[in-house]
Amino acid sequence: MAENLTIPDGTKEDKYEAILPQLSSLVLAENDTIANLANVSAVLKQVFGFFWVGFYRVKGETLVLGPFQGTLACTRIPYGKGVCGTAWMKKETLIVPNVDEFPGHIACDSRSRSEIAVPLIQNGKVVAVLDVDSDMPDFFDDTDRLYLSRICLILSKN
Ligand code: SME
Repeated sequence: MAENLTIPDGTKEDKYEAILPQLSSLVLAENDTIANLANVSAVLKQVFGFFWVGFYRVKGETLVLGPFQGTLACTRIPYGKGVCGTAWMKKETLIVPNVDEFPGHIACDSRSRSEIAVPLIQNGKVVAVLDVDSDMPDFFDDTDRLYLSRICLILSKN
């Protein structure tokens, strides 16, 4: 397929609605995990301009940095540690409005102020975590939770 995106003006929800089917086609056409995680990171960066967006992949008892867009990041996060390791352990999406108030938050970049971490679950097991950081406090809401979860669901099917 042509590697370009159609992104409407409008609300955040409009943009998520527009990219979902495009991401779905992109991901279903390719079975290489790294390629898909890389393109999803790029699309989310391009559409929303997130400060940091990317994936950590489960390797044994550790999350290891995968494809991302943004500044230099921590490469390994232990199970249950930080926002990402906690999302992995709890198997649930975490929205952190103020990273300074999250016990054990791992500060890869001190400019990060708020964060959302979404587990990518395959066959009942977390295989990766989608992490998005903002340099503004209280940036993420239930719209992000809903659509980023849907994006992880699309990724989990391939
Ligand atoms: N803040 C994350 C670490 C990953 S970076 O933000 C890219 C955490 O606490 O798990």
